[in-house]
Amino acid sequence: MSGTSPSSNNLTKALLPTPQEPQHFQDSPLSKAFAQPLMLGLFLPLQTGGWSQSTLPRGTDWSFEYNTQLTQQAENLGFDIAFGLSQWLPKGGFGGETHYRENFLDPFISAVALASVTKRILLMGTIHVLYGPWHPMHLAKFLATADHISNGRFGANIVTGYAENEPSMFGMTRAEHDRRYAQSAEFTQICNALWAGEDNLTYNGGFYSLENAYVSPRPRYGRPVLATASGSPAGFDYASRYSDIVFVSSPAGEKLADALPKLPAHVAKVKDAAAARGRQVRVIINPTIIVRPTREEAFAYYQSIMDHADLGAIRNFTDRHSAGDSQSWLEHSARGRAVGGHLHIIGSPEEVAEQLQQLHAAGIDGIQITFYDYEPELAYFGEAVIPLLEQAGLRLPVSPMV
Ligand SMILES: Cc1cc2nc3c(=O)[nH]c(=O)nc-3n(C[C@H](O)[C@H](O)[C@H](O)COP(=O)(O)O)c2cc1C
Repeated sequence: MSGTSPSSNNLTKALLPTPQEPQHFQDSPLSKAFAQPLMLGLFLPLQTGGWSQSTLPRGTDWSFEYNTQLTQQAENLGFDIAFGLSQWLPKGGFGGETHYRENFLDPFISAVALASVTKRILLMGTIHVLYGPWHPMHLAKFLATADHISNGRFGANIVTGYAENEPSMFGMTRAEHDRRYAQSAEFTQICNALWAGEDNLTYNGGFYSLENAYVSPRPRYGRPVLATASGSPAGFDYASRYSDIVFVSSPAGEKLADALPKLPAHVAKVKDAAAARGRQVRVIINPTIIVRPTREEAFAYYQSIMDHADLGAIRNFTDRHSAGDSQSWLEHSARGRAVGGHLHIIGSPEEVAEQLQQLHAAGIDGIQITFYDYEPELAYFGEAVIPLLEQAGLRLPVSPMV
């Protein structure tokens, strides 16, 4: 590498500057979300079929228009986060009768666009930072831009990819599990340095090099919100260093009764690791919620979704997950995917509120909700469950949008 200019820093990894965290600014959108005992997030159905591999008729739609309406609806109900997942799929997605996930809007681009039509909700998009020739400069610049467009409401869910066939779409071979987190860590450290450093950055690392690199404007609250999704020791180590929010799946499959005894220890692993570094992370999980006026109606609806399971799509989905090396969903049943989500929460409004209370008591700080038929079910959740969560002290009331 050639010489550095007088206004540049030639740094080693240990000396890379780190920005302030958005949760340390009292007025940041992240701090407002963290003030809620139980954060509410909506997992956006930016992909055909959302999370449920079932043919039971419904209005859920992957279109940007539908997702805009849902995000605004969630924001009006006081939701804290709208979140999109990312997968790279071959022609036809997971197939089956539903052509599951055949169409898939990119969550990063979608979240940026949603920032323009919302005012207070956090928008989070999942990004595979290791695919293709992504360089930390790209993401540092793009996320700083998203941060300004959203006024500090933008978050990146940094994932390392677990599927075998995704890297090959980019002409790459999947790297070994823990090595991916090592690369992702360097990527994030460089982004942090670009958001925090006072001078041009010159750096020669194990995976990336930069010479006289600089990003301006700076994010509004130190850096954009950073999340990651994992369940492995290497992923939790990464999260304890760099993430504000850790998205976990159930350590015991989709049945809440099985998950509840195991969740406290699972959640404590990542929270304790962060605390040992003088940091705090909040942990969120993805339940599919089926709520109806009575328990009987809720279970009848659950059964119809299951009875319409799209077995072809489920088979393809399960094959892909078995070929992956994620340590996060080893206990999930194939058939449960007809309903989808990492946990199933089913019942009357009172029963659903009670189950959410149990999740919170198990150390969960927020739920990233999926619904089967999004628009009407989100509306009913807002009408019937949120007031109960407020009564239980799990939610501070939020006024509707003006
Ligand atoms: C709750 C949750 C959500 C995830 N969402 C995504 C996603 O949208 N796209 C993706 O490629 N991987 C996703 N992952 C996979 C992880 O990012 C990670 O690559 C995978 O779980 C392997 O790492 P692990 O063994 O550390 O969990 C998710 C994982 C979890 C636990």
